[in-house]
Amino acid sequence: MADTDDIREGKSYGLDTPATSAGFYLKGMDGADWGLKNRMARIFNKDSGRTVMLAFDHGFLMGPTSGLERIDLNIAPLAEHADCLMGTRGMIRTSIPASCTKPVCLRTDTGTTILTEMNHNVLISEEEAISMNVSAMAAMLSVGEAGTEAGTIANFSRLVDIGMKYSIPVMGVTAVGKDMARDARYFGMASRVCAENGASIVKTYYTEGFEKVVAACPVPVVIAGGKKLPELEALELCYNAIQCGAAGVDMGRNVFQSESPLAMMKAVKAVVHDSAKPAEAYEVFNDAMQPA
Ligand code: 5RP
Repeated sequence: MADTDDIREGKSYGLDTPATSAGFYLKGMDGADWGLKNRMARIFNKDSGRTVMLAFDHGFLMGPTSGLERIDLNIAPLAEHADCLMGTRGMIRTSIPASCTKPVCLRTDTGTTILTEMNHNVLISEEEAISMNVSAMAAMLSVGEAGTEAGTIANFSRLVDIGMKYSIPVMGVTAVGKDMARDARYFGMASRVCAENGASIVKTYYTEGFEKVVAACPVPVVIAGGKKLPELEALELCYNAIQCGAAGVDMGRNVFQSESPLAMMKAVKAVVHDSAKPAEAYEVFNDAMQPA
């Protein structure tokens, strides 16, 4: 029997304070469900509206590439410095401690490797993503190649159906055909196709004219870092993307292949969250390299 003694009548109704109905702080999310917004809020910092995601999903395509030989040694120690971890189920389960409470963006498609023809991907089961308590699911969407375009768009669309059912945001990882220009026209198109198919986040590459890619994509856009660059150039890339309206990065090689991945994480965070200029962020990198 419920305790019915001492039931106190409410008295703090805040009668002078109207209930708020402010919009959500990330673009394109006003119409989203509470659960989806709550997951987005775990990924995107509420003050800056941006995120620094750490991508280490490369192994399913290329095996133990430089910097990812031992996720437990190379990536797990960086986890606390990232806003979100992006990887595959196998690496997260085996090599990231379950006590780590950083949000996870699970790479939810898998397929062929760099040894054959890429992008013939399939989706893993939704039960996997749910059981891993993920905050987002990512799948690649490739435009411009007759053999793979339809399959990746079908995968993506099905993943969004699942995401909407459970209020899990889906991140589109854009790709363009190997003979196509890697420019704003084609990455802009791939980004838009992700958004048209219900993406809550789009991951693409920075190119000249990136402001148009961002403007035509009604949900937050984050950039991949691409191949390893000298640190200052990678910080310039981040800065330029942020200036064009990017909502952050989902960066891999330019962090984990850096001379000091931790120093690079700190420098990228300065650009993304504090709007530091590249030279200032490079100072953060150099300072963080110094022994304490
Ligand atoms: C291409 C990808 C990779 O999975 C990866 O996350 C890219 O990260 P980076 O370019 O920063 O190393 O986006 O499918």
